[in-house]
Amino acid sequence: HHYVAIMAGGIGSRFWPQSRTAYPKQFLDILNTGKTLIQWTFDRFAHFLPAENIFVVTSEEYVSIVLEQLPGIKPENVLAEPSRKNTAPCVAYISHKLAKIDPEASLIVAPSDHMVLDTEAFEKVALQALDFASQSKAFVTLGIKPTYPNTGYGYIQHETESAAENIYKVKTFTEKPDLEIAKSFLASGDFLWNAGIFIWQVKNVIKAFEQYEPEMNELFVAEQDNFNTDKEKEAINRIYPLCTNISIDYAIMEKADNVYVIPSSFGWSDLGTWNSAYDNLEKDYLGNAVAGNNVMIVDATKCMISAPHNKLVLLQGLEDCIVVDTPDALLICKKDKEQEIKEYVAEVKRSK
Ligand code: GDD
Ligand code: MG
Repeated sequence: HHYVAIMAGGIGSRFWPQSRTAYPKQFLDILNTGKTLIQWTFDRFAHFLPAENIFVVTSEEYVSIVLEQLPGIKPENVLAEPSRKNTAPCVAYISHKLAKIDPEASLIVAPSDHMVLDTEAFEKVALQALDFASQSKAFVTLGIKPTYPNTGYGYIQHETESAAENIYKVKTFTEKPDLEIAKSFLASGDFLWNAGIFIWQVKNVIKAFEQYEPEMNELFVAEQDNFNTDKEKEAINRIYPLCTNISIDYAIMEKADNVYVIPSSFGWSDLGTWNSAYDNLEKDYLGNAVAGNNVMIVDATKCMISAPHNKLVLLQGLEDCIVVDTPDALLICKKDKEQEIKEYVAEVKRSK
């Protein structure tokens, strides 16, 4: 009764120019490891779940990339969304589909674009979470010890007394707080980052949709008979335009009162930005991190360089810069301005 849904519909715009709407971050090998992020994610789950229990939910336009990158997946387990509606509709879709296949299903919902260094520790935590969730009404989250006030994450505060071994009832779940609040969370020492991985029984999450997103839920209920038939695609094409664009964190996690957390450390990184890629790569003695095979550094310090193509890239006189070379676009910017990359990308799109 154990399943995983890998969410792979995001566009990863902070990794421009390597990450493009047509070919986003989850399908890239940002750290030059030999496998893309979604390939690592799939393999991580395939190690303890049969391939027929692994689903990928993604945009229609990425289905062929998913099939190409994951030869081990069952093609009918790749679910296509006709439009980008963030993660709540994605979770509603897989949940209503699975509920018909296996009413007793327990589900791990996972992002496709994270890095996990210690896969053994990850597997242990995932199995513990599945075990706990399958015997309770709990929505289990995995909590990571925060290191700085990142405003792109969810923050979790939990009870001090454990509910089971290393599992705690969550007091508050705050998605993407502003900087002041994130700072106060960090200072209090009482909060964990939400790793973005959720473990629950499908029937319980459907109940939560009934309660907190009744209109969205109704759309799926109305089309229930069509799931897992040749009418599924048409049904989804009718549902999606009517769905609210909202993430599962805002739609359910902030509101639910049955949330639990397992404080975890398995070498998790969201790999959200070039700086996080820099943190995860080995550095030369001048502090440069290079992803690419044809980079020559004459004189540069603390730079992040990504040049996965065969073109020779030579650096001289740069400090604290991000250099990303692709066949048709080149980015050179200061490391501390990376949050602005999103805006530059929007500007590029507008000017075209
Ligand atoms: N199928 C599908 N459809 N997948 C999507 C969609 C969509 O419309 N939008 C995003 N995704 C995928 C992304 O590709 C990613 O793998 C995952 O869902 C999470 O979406 P993000 O957009 O990356 O979320 P986030 O990083 O802003 O926030 C979430 O993750 C943080 C940890 O990295 C939240 O859960 C935070 O609370 C959490 O801290
Ligand atoms: Mg993310």
